[in-house]
Amino acid sequence: MSALQTQVVIIGGGPSGLLLSQLLHRKGISSIVLERQTRSHVMGRIRAGVLEHGFVNLMREAGCGRRMDREGEVHAGFCIAHQGQLNRIDLASRTGGETVMVYGQTEVTRDLYQARDAMGGVVIHTAQNVQLHALNDARPFVTWELDGVSQRAECDFIVGADGFHGVSRKSIPADVLKEYEKIYPFGWLGVLSETAPVSDELIYARHERGFALCSLRSPVLSRYYIQVPSTDQAKDWSDKAFWAELKRRLPADVAAALQTGPSIEKSIAPLRSFVAEPMRYGNLFLAGDAAHIVPPTGAKGLNLAASDIHYLYHGLLEYYVKGSCAGLDAYSEKALARVWKAERFSWWMTNLLHSSPDGSETDLRLQSAELDYLFSSDAAQASMAENYVGLPY
Ligand code: FAD
Ligand code: PHB
Repeated sequence: MSALQTQVVIIGGGPSGLLLSQLLHRKGISSIVLERQTRSHVMGRIRAGVLEHGFVNLMREAGCGRRMDREGEVHAGFCIAHQGQLNRIDLASRTGGETVMVYGQTEVTRDLYQARDAMGGVVIHTAQNVQLHALNDARPFVTWELDGVSQRAECDFIVGADGFHGVSRKSIPADVLKEYEKIYPFGWLGVLSETAPVSDELIYARHERGFALCSLRSPVLSRYYIQVPSTDQAKDWSDKAFWAELKRRLPADVAAALQTGPSIEKSIAPLRSFVAEPMRYGNLFLAGDAAHIVPPTGAKGLNLAASDIHYLYHGLLEYYVKGSCAGLDAYSEKALARVWKAERFSWWMTNLLHSSPDGSETDLRLQSAELDYLFSSDAAQASMAENYVGLPY
């Protein structure tokens, strides 16, 4: 078996892996991306919708920002519904002008694939049984099977961007890796529908029946979520039951204005906080969901993947251009410092807006007090806005 030679093998063709390979290619650094699924499977996953300004800038730096800038929607605020009232968090005025961009992960992935194709980037799909080898050697290698044939690539570095269920993190010895995890007793049932969004801005709703979120992808495509017990299954929720439950959790005027229609996608996402430390082992670097998961309430998952890629990209540039290992040596510590802050924010926002099945009356009163404080305090709103638009890299 002859081995492919490259500088960086990237495992995972999700947004993290594609973005890194695109950024590196533009600086003349070679990579191979190995993806377990087909391209249409990767493109069909409906996930994130809100991009921080740091992510937006990185897409532009990668030469992939044109359609995003044309079709994405800049949002300068969002609302929190509580006790029948809408309370607006003005992101721009609380942060000195920062905003977020509403542009779906599906579109981000499509733009990245298009850019990789245009540059002749190597993305190998349906790579099975990917295995990592010689992680502590100067020339580590990766093996996989394609259509039953064994393949091998040798490289300087391996990047594990293969999501939470990937093989990369599991390749780090258990006595090296420390994992921190919190599993929430509820999930999010999400529906995508070809209907006009109920609101120009996102509405996060706190209701005694459970959390709800009105989000969007475009003027004709809406994304809605409701909190459900983690034991529920999407197939047990008819569209009719979903819309009825969503309406119950929204202020009456919002519910009355809600346009319903057939779901074109319906799925349940579990809620989890997870961090694996360190994010480096020998010449393997973890990035994105491979190293950490946040509950989606703060819209931070994809954005954290982007900040990892920013640090890793600059570390690799420093290595290949200046011959310095300093950036790569600092990668894990730098990335984790930002990861933990986003973990804290996502956990806080989740606790603020969800009803806990085993919460006591005291918990409920504390949650109400936290919301009252937020709606009445400039400082609290500034803190929320600062975190929501994204802490600096
Ligand atoms: P992934 O997208 O998981 O990509 C990893 C890739 O690796 C996949 O394509 C997978 O097929 C591949 N792979 C796995 N194992 C292997 C293997 N053994 N070999 C080869 N390839 C492999 N984030 C936000 O920032 N904002 C939001 O608004 C937001 N909303 C969300 C809503 C929902 C319902 C969900 C579920 C998530 C949301 N997220 C959000 C989180 C965001 O979608 C993820 O953080 C993001 O997809 C992480 O990107 P990634 O490239 O690191 O991992
Ligand atoms: C989404 O549009 O999918 C979305 C938006 C905001 C979140 C999570 C998900 O906090």
